[in-house]
Amino acid sequence: MTEAQEELLSELRETHGYKTQTEVVMDALESLAGRSSASFGSKLSHGVEPHEREEVMRKVIATASKVDEIIDKHGKNDSQLIQILLEIQREYNWLPKEALLWLSERLGVSINRIYQIATFYKAFSLVPRGRHLVRVCMGTACHVRGSMTLSDRASQLLNIDPGETTKDMRFSFETVNCLGCCALGPVIVIDGEYHSKPSTPELEKLLNECA
Ligand code: FES
Repeated sequence: MTEAQEELLSELRETHGYKTQTEVVMDALESLAGRSSASFGSKLSHGVEPHEREEVMRKVIATASKVDEIIDKHGKNDSQLIQILLEIQREYNWLPKEALLWLSERLGVSINRIYQIATFYKAFSLVPRGRHLVRVCMGTACHVRGSMTLSDRASQLLNIDPGETTKDMRFSFETVNCLGCCALGPVIVIDGEYHSKPSTPELEKLLNECA
């Protein structure tokens, strides 16, 4: 175990009054391995390979620590669940499984309920998202104004289909329904910025500006 991991374990142990450091880790691992619902599935439910163990521990402890920070900020109260999930989403750009399992453990909220919320709201992603989110509106108004062509052009430039993420994790590409600015259609949103009917060179430039 590295020094950084030791430190992290001690911190968690003191914060939450666990008797041993192992208890902290085992709690997290048990959550990850034993409580993975069918909704998530997990290779850990079939046991952790020895060579994977340190990496899993490191990841679980680091994530648990970050989730604790977020819970402390919002209060350990299940009425704050959506706010906490939004902040985890902002932190990681998606909702990692170990973060949700630890959240379930800390708030005493079932993992199924967390999963239901995470799948209901479009703002949440249960798969890793790229650093930049590109969304094309496919609502009726945008559709009649050519959103299909815009989506195809974005797809070509990014070299992925809607719902996919580039291998370098730079972009995720999604299609969405009406964004509430139909007069601007067809609309593409890049990292929250709305762009009205960009030409192909304009679109290429916008995408190139994303580091
Ligand atoms: S249909 Fe695209 S913004 Fe309304």
